[in-house]
Amino acid sequence: MEEASKVSEFEEIVALIVAAGSGERARKDGAPPKQFTMIGGRSVLQRAVDAFAQCRRVTQIHVVIAPGQEALCEAALITPEAVAAIHIGGATRQESVRRGLAALTARPGDKVLIHDAARPFVSKALIDRVIDALETHEAAIPALPVTDTLKRVAGDSVVGTVSRDALQAAQTPQGFLHGAIREAHENAARDEQAFTDDAAVAEWAGMRVVTVPGDRTNIKLTTADDLAEANAGALAALPDIRVGFGFDVHQFGPGSEVWLGGVAIPHTHGLAGHSDADVILHALTDAILGALGDGDIGQHFPPSDERWKGAASSVFLADAVARVSARGGVIANLDITYVGEAPRLTPHRDAIRARIAEIAGISVGRVGVKATTNEKLGFIGRAEGAVAHAVATIRLPLSD
Ligand code: CTP
Ligand code: MG
Repeated sequence: MEEASKVSEFEEIVALIVAAGSGERARKDGAPPKQFTMIGGRSVLQRAVDAFAQCRRVTQIHVVIAPGQEALCEAALITPEAVAAIHIGGATRQESVRRGLAALTARPGDKVLIHDAARPFVSKALIDRVIDALETHEAAIPALPVTDTLKRVAGDSVVGTVSRDALQAAQTPQGFLHGAIREAHENAARDEQAFTDDAAVAEWAGMRVVTVPGDRTNIKLTTADDLAEANAGALAALPDIRVGFGFDVHQFGPGSEVWLGGVAIPHTHGLAGHSDADVILHALTDAILGALGDGDIGQHFPPSDERWKGAASSVFLADAVARVSARGGVIANLDITYVGEAPRLTPHRDAIRARIAEIAGISVGRVGVKATTNEKLGFIGRAEGAVAHAVATIRLPLSD
């Protein structure tokens, strides 16, 4: 956990993303709270962070999580460097925002954009509209006219129809001057006033809140159905499905363990190579690079470079994975076959699958690990070396 970043001499526009909820309404057994789940290979929280990171005017991004969510948050963020600081929230959304605002070191005149992590599809254009409105107003929120007819209901009976003429549905990010909204939140907490959004806190404090057009796609993921639909939509946006192939061979030499699939396995020999000689991770790295059409492992990590001497090959695989993310894509699956007389891989299969899944940031079910001997034939059969073959499937946005 980092300290809040220093106050600069320039105006700050701070994004404060609240992600400290438990996501009860969307909860599925065994799944993390909705803000940390994957949609289309990227977490809900990461998508919200990405939206603000794309806005050059936003100078800092802060995230609020609940105590105990640190590991989930770390796993959900592929660009932790984009986040200035992570703060601990409270039992309600309002309390999470209050704590987040209190933790910022912004000056009173700096702008703050308070956003629900549960709205991952917020667009740069929408964020820009809120920032623009803050040039001339102390508070601005995106809102959309209500299109459904609204009914007042008691039990299952309609008891009235509410005119929707003047009604709009509020979204986030909601923008304010930091000093004013921070004070309003402190006062609301002191007076035990409960509100469901920050504009309501601002209204209660007597601030004038203006609206800018919201966006239909900026939905708040609330139910499990919302998540499933978002996941399907996000995958549909990655129609360029590509397969890459990788192959590697290393010679056995002196040693007492071999690195295979990111796991150290005791053996009568070691594998010789410039790095840790992990044939499986090398083949996988090349498979991903192949699918990207982005060279090979030797091009990105030349054996002539002293930096990679004895390096853990997880670095190479992680780099290839990051290249997929940088292209806006995801890894659909990874599959390897190890060919060697020894060591036997079966006892280590689960550990290897788990390690590869961890490095690649995908679920274990998307990693295949298989092994075969070479029936004592050839250089593999004579245990002079071992080989790995790998295939990677990735999904990318459409490009030429
Ligand atoms: N939130 C928060 N702290 C809380 C409660 C909510 O930071 N104590 C955040 C959520 O993480 C979410 C946003 O506020 O990004 C909007 O809240 P909501 O959609 O209600 O999320 P949850 O409270 O997590 O979901 P649920 O109400 O279904 O439990
Ligand atoms: Mg809630």
